[in-house]
Formats: sequence, C-alpha cells, structure tokens
Amino acid sequence: MTDINTAPGRAQVGVATLRTDRWWLPTLGTSAILLFFIAYATFRIFQRDFYWAEEYHYLTPLYSPCISESCIPGSSHFGEPLPKLPIWLPLPIVTFAILAGFRGTCYYYRKAGYRSFFLAPAACAVPEPHKSYSGEARFPLLLLNYHRYFFYGALIFGLINVYDGVLAFHGTDGGVGMGLGTLIIWINLVMLWLYTLSCHACRHIVGGRLRSFSKHPWRYRYWTWVSRLNARHGTYAMISLVTVILTDAYIMSVSAGWFDDPRFF
Ligand code: FES
Repeated sequence: MTDINTAPGRAQVGVATLRTDRWWLPTLGTSAILLFFIAYATFRIFQRDFYWAEEYHYLTPLYSPCISESCIPGSSHFGEPLPKLPIWLPLPIVTFAILAGFRGTCYYYRKAGYRSFFLAPAACAVPEPHKSYSGEARFPLLLLNYHRYFFYGALIFGLINVYDGVLAFHGTDGGVGMGLGTLIIWINLVMLWLYTLSCHACRHIVGGRLRSFSKHPWRYRYWTWVSRLNARHGTYAMISLVTVILTDAYIMSVSAGWFDDPRFF
C-alpha cells in the first residue's frame, strides 16, 4: 500500500488510512448480503421446484415469467415459447439474464461490488491495493455501460411482476381472495418499482439531454420525482434485494407445503 500512498497526486499521509472509525463494517455487511443473495438465487434458479403455489396463484419473481415447456403446469402466464430446457440451464434463463444484467450493471451495485469484492477502494479515504486504474473503458467492464438497455428490460419485467401480483388475488374457492402471500408479493412489488424508477438511467431518460426545462414542464416534473427517488437509490437497491429473497422464500415454503398461507378473505 505504501506505493499507493505515495502515488503522484495522492496525499502523502504516511499511514494506510487516518480513519479511526469502523469503516470496514458497511463493506463487510454489503459483501455478506451480496454473497448470500448470489448463493441463494443460484440455488433457487437451478432448483426448478417450489416456485409456483397453485392453490393461491403465487409465482415467485425469480421465475417470472416462466416461458418454457419445462415449467410447472399453470405457472406459464405468457405461454411456453421456449422448448424444454436441459437441467444445466436455469429454467428462468431469460428472467435471470435481464434482471442479473440490470442489477449487475446498476451504478449502486457497481460501487458496492468495487468496494466489497475488489476493495477498490474498500471505503472513502482508505487506499486500495491495486497499482493501476483503468476505469470502465475496457472489456469486460465496458459492458457496464449498457445499463440503460437492461433498464428497459427491467421495466417490462416489472410490468409482468405486476400482472403476477394481480393474479395473486386468487381465492381458494376460485374467486377473488387475499392472503399473507399476496401482501408480501405487493410489498416486494412496491420495493422493486421504487428501485427501478429511482435508477440513474431512468432519471437521464426522463429529464436528460434537455437544453431548457422550462420548455418541457412535464419532463421537468417527472425528472423532479425521479430525482427525489434517486437520492435513495442505494437504499431501495438493498431493500428490494431482501424483499425478493423473502418473497421467494415465502412462496417456496407455501408451495412445498411447509405451512398454509394465512387468508385475509
Ligand atoms: S443505477 Fe441502479 S438500477 Fe439503474
């Protein structure tokens, strides 16, 4: 680290860092949450079971939409355009590609990943172990710049999740009903939409590249809304990660018959 501390342009502080607080704690916590999510999601997308609770019409967001002939009957709300998939391919391969791409290229997760996994740097005012810096100007990090396209995909998947949420108002007698699972699914939906709409790319799409806000009052209004959400984007990113896991775990439990869904009506 010494040579980093003495690199041109860096403050010559003589020690690794002057910070005396527990700066490593948020980094450690973020790494633990991200690693847990990666392990959990990997297990679930290869499990190919307990993602659809037929009795309540609950479909986990990790498998939505289920569009393969390998899907459990009843879980394919948008048909089965994909053939049967081999066991080594995740059943929700399309969902996984878009949503992992969206989160993986997210500006917040990029910061979290650089800090947690690459220590680049681990925290503000803490030197990093790397000797050089190439930014995101070369392959493969260059691909992170495609975030805005994943955003468009996430919008479509967000609408599909809303459709699943409406279907979750399914009564056990075949009519309309609501259970604890419906509530959990909708809480997750709210968090997913807060996360999606607070995206930096969304803010730019809504209000960017304008010479004059006064000539575009509606876009200015939307931009103001998105900007307010954007200030908490990192918070929504982490909360929605947790709500996705909880929603999936709940649907898995109900689908596996570990307990019955408490019904409100
Ligand atoms: S910047 Fe995080 S989702 Fe777009």
